[in-house]
Amino acid sequence: MTFSRRKFVQASLLAGFAIATKKGWANRLPTIAIERRDLFPQGVASGDPTANSVILWTRRPPVKDSAAKKLVVEISTTPEFKKILAGGTAHLSADSDWTCRFWASDLDPNREYWYRFIDEHGFASRIGRTVTAPAAGSDTAVRFTFVSCQCPNEGGLNAFRRMIFEDKARPKDQQLNFVLHLGDFIYEVTWYAEDNPDGNRGRRIRDLYKFPQGRKVSNFYLPVTLEDYRTLYRAYLEDTDLQDARARWPFVCVWDNHEFAWAGYQSQYVAGGGYNAPAQNQKVFANQAWWEFIPAMVQQPGNPKLEHFKAPEVVDTPMEEFNEDGLSEEPNNLKAINSLKIQRVLRWGKNMDLLLTDNWSFRSPDMSSDDFNVQGFPRVAPQIPFEIMNYGRHYNGGNPPDTIYFNGKDIPNPTKDVHAQTFLGKEQRRWFLEQLGASAARWKIWGHTFGTMELRSDYQNLPGELGSNWPKDVGYAVMDNRFLRDKDEIFDFIRDQQITGFCVVAGDRHAFFAGLASKALPPKKYEPVGVEFITGSISQQTLFEVLEVTMKKDNPKRVLHLIDQADGTVIPSVNVTALHGVQSTLKLKETGDMQQARAVRNPEVAPHLSLLDMGGHGYGLVTATADQLSTEFVCIPRPLERSDRPDGGPLTYRVVHRTRLWKAGEAPKLEQEILEGDPRYCI
Ligand SMILES: [Fe+2]
Repeated sequence: MTFSRRKFVQASLLAGFAIATKKGWANRLPTIAIERRDLFPQGVASGDPTANSVILWTRRPPVKDSAAKKLVVEISTTPEFKKILAGGTAHLSADSDWTCRFWASDLDPNREYWYRFIDEHGFASRIGRTVTAPAAGSDTAVRFTFVSCQCPNEGGLNAFRRMIFEDKARPKDQQLNFVLHLGDFIYEVTWYAEDNPDGNRGRRIRDLYKFPQGRKVSNFYLPVTLEDYRTLYRAYLEDTDLQDARARWPFVCVWDNHEFAWAGYQSQYVAGGGYNAPAQNQKVFANQAWWEFIPAMVQQPGNPKLEHFKAPEVVDTPMEEFNEDGLSEEPNNLKAINSLKIQRVLRWGKNMDLLLTDNWSFRSPDMSSDDFNVQGFPRVAPQIPFEIMNYGRHYNGGNPPDTIYFNGKDIPNPTKDVHAQTFLGKEQRRWFLEQLGASAARWKIWGHTFGTMELRSDYQNLPGELGSNWPKDVGYAVMDNRFLRDKDEIFDFIRDQQITGFCVVAGDRHAFFAGLASKALPPKKYEPVGVEFITGSISQQTLFEVLEVTMKKDNPKRVLHLIDQADGTVIPSVNVTALHGVQSTLKLKETGDMQQARAVRNPEVAPHLSLLDMGGHGYGLVTATADQLSTEFVCIPRPLERSDRPDGGPLTYRVVHRTRLWKAGEAPKLEQEILEGDPRYCI
């Protein structure tokens, strides 16, 4: 490394104060300082690396009688900090909860840097490490992990410990470039131990925090104020494993639902317990807290430098009408949802563009009706009514039926005259297609919260008494399938533009999925246009865990989800039901043997899926090279408690899927290899 070139740092994204230190830092000796982690209780972090810059972050609040107003930022090319390469100063203020964003620029591509913050009393943060992206023309392989859904209040973040352990053991040139966090970084809904002395559905409650204000609904609390949202981030970031991960790699983040509101959309707060209220103020608070604690290259319209978060003044106002695209044009809603734009594109050399979308701020309200729920079949929807309601007025090429036939009756179609469901909204969808069309990278990775792959089973083939109540002529039992019209537009565009190397990475579902992305499944045209990987949660409960805790042993449909074994263990047959169909599940129950179960599979149920695990936790690891994309699922046991092992505890399995870069007009293909462990009920 040569120090002859003058390095400098611009602090233009600094909260509150734009101080740019442009010379005099290279080759300086480091400031004499004492490391005091207690004064930087949320550690350090970096975010959104480019080939020559990265955002550095910390929080230095007043602690007891030690307050600080100013931080020196030092960047070095060695972890020992023998010499300083670049630096600057940053000011702190209560306006952004004592958090600080520092834009380190003019760095070299594809290399490691170390950084720290020092206050005016000579007290230093821990030393963080970060990595820049390869240069635009570089062929270097890109490696990243993708994660979602962490809750240190009800589990251990052991997956991060394993990620760190494995990365440290790799040769330098194979270490991770970054971590992609796909949201549910926090869970805003909070169960307190005092109201739930037996825990929350089998999970021990740590009571890491209480909301300064909060709103009690049923047996849980929801945040109300900006301080409430900040309280969540502060408490989560005191977790050792999360903090160590943020100090080791740059993070790239998008939010999922829980950064604002459990089942919300746009600026409406919707939660369990029947809570449903306009929440424009809370949407702004949620956005501000996210911006304060997550270093990211995001935008506020009308505030190009984003030195401060400008919170627009809004009044909580009901959204009464939704336009053609499912958007409420109510002015307070528009101000709130546009108060922070997180959709963006980041690039890693020639191999990879990462396109990130916001799947909640522009989401349309659900206009479907409960009239089409099938009694006795929990957690599934009948396919044909579901699709009619999801497409709204756009069903059947704009000719939706007046009525929907269900259980021998013609029921009025509740969505005949309303918008189709959307998660991107019209404007963001157009932006996404422009970015996708313009991408010259070999691999175009769409990072967003929940993925596109449909999950269903063939309940129409259930025999005898088990199937007697499944309605005739409604098709499959849909377990999960979202926003069909968005998917149609995006996948038609990929096919028509002959885009190759398209890959979705997602989280949210608390399950591992690997497969091919197709607009539709048989008997409709099955036409894969890309590959897709969804990661299991870091720690939050899976469907398998919830069913184990809540589903009655004598429920006649239990076999479709859970098979009890003589030794007291339970097989997650829900995977088999969705991967292979109901006959396979019944055969598994009868024989206990997956080979015999697979022999009677229905190949039409899930031709797109090669792995499904609705009980696993962990993370995904992607490696993108010039001609191949490989994705490893690293699955760990249910993290009820934090592991104190240096590797984060045992491994359940490690499975890799590889795909060669396909040519225009070809279909993508996936090859699977089991590297460790036994995922027999997931494939
Ligand atoms: Fe989640």
